[in-house]
Amino acid sequence: QPIKIIGAPMDYGADRRGVDMGPSAIRYAGLADGLSRAGVDPVDAGDLSIPRAEERDPDVEQPTQGHAKFLREVEDVCTRLADRVEAILDNGEFPLVLGGDHSVAIGSMRGSSSDADLGAIWFDAHADLNTPETSPSGNVHGMPLAATLGRGAFADMTWAHAPRVNEESIAYVGLRSIDERERDLLRDSEMTAFTMADIDERGMTAVVENALDVATTDTDGVHVSLDLDWLDPKTAPGVGTPVRGGVTYREAHAALETVSRRHERDGILRSMDVVEVNPILDEGNETATLAAELAASAFGKRIL
Ligand code: ARG
Ligand code: MN
Ligand code: MN
Ligand code: MN
Repeated sequence: QPIKIIGAPMDYGADRRGVDMGPSAIRYAGLADGLSRAGVDPVDAGDLSIPRAEERDPDVEQPTQGHAKFLREVEDVCTRLADRVEAILDNGEFPLVLGGDHSVAIGSMRGSSSDADLGAIWFDAHADLNTPETSPSGNVHGMPLAATLGRGAFADMTWAHAPRVNEESIAYVGLRSIDERERDLLRDSEMTAFTMADIDERGMTAVVENALDVATTDTDGVHVSLDLDWLDPKTAPGVGTPVRGGVTYREAHAALETVSRRHERDGILRSMDVVEVNPILDEGNETATLAAELAASAFGKRIL
């Protein structure tokens, strides 16, 4: 099955400019070569064209409750991305989306779930479950799961909502930074949350096996969303919202290899995004290199 690489170079959802260069940096780090060596067939479909943030006004369109910067721009990009992702799947290919900030996942998941019940695994330090009402920052990259589930002010935004993604089929892995009001939203939800403490206690492989069980129960496929701030900032310094105490290099590879083994057995993977790489904050492109390596692990690269 060919893998279609699609870049979404946008940073509307984040406070610090630079994640719009993520797709270039990940490609430059050897993504396509790594995927080929993993035994899959990558085809680069190029980037969505996205106006620079400086050319836009972040506050033109706002929900009646709360605050969400660049909401109109995020809607435009995610609508186009959802259409692309759906078309790639309809063509029998696998969509691999390169961010960009994490709000691109709103488009990936809507597109990926248009003809399927979709589970999701969220590899992230953050819960990304704020609504415009609860967000402390107004940054949409902290809101993609609330948007997908139609929570709060997102309830009447049909472009964001993915009705075939059920919260029972979403599992977090590696959580360690949650805002106060976001914690209440998470506690009141049916999502499964594996924190860094769970990884410490049970080991990465067991935790990811469990997350896969959650995401594959009563679904047609799984979306994997990989936020590079999931890793420890010493290993992945090129991110806008670093949180110490993150996943190690080896744990990260083990996690994506676990996904890959399950995919080889059951054909579970449907779509994936790799987000939040910020080359301006990176050291020698090492975070982008890691992003490319982890994608290769997810698609079957092995040591032997
Ligand atoms: N929870 C914080 C916020 O809502 C940070 C979110 C960071 N999200 C991310 N995808 N890096 O602003
Ligand atoms: Mn379709
Ligand atoms: Mn995130
Ligand atoms: Mn994050």
